[in-house]
Amino acid sequence: MKVFAKSLLMAIVMTLPAGAAFSEGEFDGAVKARKAEMTLRAFNLGQLGAMAKGEMEYNADVAKAAAHNLKVMTTLNGMAMWPKGSDNAALGDKTNALPALWENFPKVIEAVKALSAAADVMADAAGKDLASLQGAMGAVGKACGGCHEQFRKKME
Ligand code: HEC
Repeated sequence: MKVFAKSLLMAIVMTLPAGAAFSEGEFDGAVKARKAEMTLRAFNLGQLGAMAKGEMEYNADVAKAAAHNLKVMTTLNGMAMWPKGSDNAALGDKTNALPALWENFPKVIEAVKALSAAADVMADAAGKDLASLQGAMGAVGKACGGCHEQFRKKME
């Protein structure tokens, strides 16, 4: 959990010099990788959400695995996936990451930590029983949404 927060810090601190010229497509791999990570998060959260809503039968093993995956993802070192200059002001439609992500460091860390904390609680709760899973759900959803609200382009 703290590792990810730290890695994000590094990503912002170890910025390239201002005005550096980027070649076309330079950030494609990083953007693709971070979107892929978000997709994985959404898939795992989706399983938990479906169980919470009764759309999928509660299964402690499945719930535990999804919650474990979510938690592990908050520990990834994402440094190389968020290079400065890879915002949507620079890259247009290639990314939905707002420049604000690179300009509001303490708030980004807050958002990262909120998800880490919620994912930790979920990892302990999901395999217990359905009620515990449901109880942990709100904070995780709020943590994802809270960051998107601030740092991701509004979706239609
Ligand atoms: C610290 C901020 C932050 C947190 C926390 C966060 N996201 Fe994201 N998410 C983003 C940003 C920024 C983007 C836009 C990335 C881009 O387009 O380059 C994004 C994009 C996405 C996308 C779209 C991916 C795509 O293919 O375009 C999904 C789905 C997503 N997030 C799901 C989640 C889920 C589920 C969680 C919680 C478990 C979560 N996110 C937590 C910042 C965050």
